[in-house]
Amino acid sequence: MAIDTTIQDGVLSLRFARPEKKNAITAAMYASLAAALRAAASDESVRAIVIAGSPGVFTAGNDLGDFLENPPADLDQPVVHFMDAFVDLDKPVIAAVTGHAVGIGVTLLLHCDLAYLAEGAILTMPFVALGLVPEFGSTTLLPQRIGHARAAERLLLGEPISAADALGCGLVNAVLPPAEVVPRAMQAAARLRALPADAVQTAKRLLREPQRETTRRAIRAEFEVFVERLRSPDTRAALRAFFERRATHPPGGLQPSADRR
Ligand code: COA
Repeated sequence: MAIDTTIQDGVLSLRFARPEKKNAITAAMYASLAAALRAAASDESVRAIVIAGSPGVFTAGNDLGDFLENPPADLDQPVVHFMDAFVDLDKPVIAAVTGHAVGIGVTLLLHCDLAYLAEGAILTMPFVALGLVPEFGSTTLLPQRIGHARAAERLLLGEPISAADALGCGLVNAVLPPAEVVPRAMQAAARLRALPADAVQTAKRLLREPQRETTRRAIRAEFEVFVERLRSPDTRAALRAFFERRATHPPGGLQPSADRR
């Protein structure tokens, strides 16, 4: 299913495993992720979750072929089930961002409790350039995290975020040599596993609870517009252009224009 799932020593590891497509996430992959997260929530033996990519790429975001050929029409979609399962989790989630991340590969970081990023990785959210709108509650959570001005730069202009920027604005905990990203995430998971489970999960719930309802509402409001936009001429043209290898994204693509701290 292109998601590798393993549980070892109380840690659920989820790994995007579609490197030939830059780990682009299909509907089937969202369904696997949602099922794994729901199962982890009710499995007492799972104490922490690590989500990782492949060397050089975390994920290129939603599969653009799915958007083109099979655009979601309503909220009863694997991607929405995945987002809901993520938001509902009380167990801690650690992102091992092994390389570039695009779209939902970036917005999901707003729902992780810890995140480690590979040196040289670039994070981009090119929703608007694709004729779309931001998703996964990012219209609410990103401005809260980094301030409106910086969020607008990333979400409206689609400015890439360098690893230094991501660290500077508090999107990730550390920037590491690529080979150290997964081990550091696993180390953090092992530390969490060794702590009292109830205390960890209650603390996470207290940290997240004030924003949970707002986040759920934002996810729905964003997605309703998103599914309309997917059928817009702007988006259809941008998606076709991607597969025809014409420029769709802002000049520079994954090159950050400058390090803004
Ligand atoms: N959906 C579907 N396929 C994707 C994809 C995506 N999101 N991202 C990459 N791929 C595929 C490419 O079509 C290509 O397939 P092919 O070898 O069969 O032609 C393969 O993955 C490699 O991608 P390529 O673009 O050649 O790699 P790159 O290293 O030059 O660039 C990215 C990597 C991630 C910068 C670039 O692929 C990209 O911009 N992808 C789209 C990201 C995006 O817009 N995501 C959605 C956000 S809402």
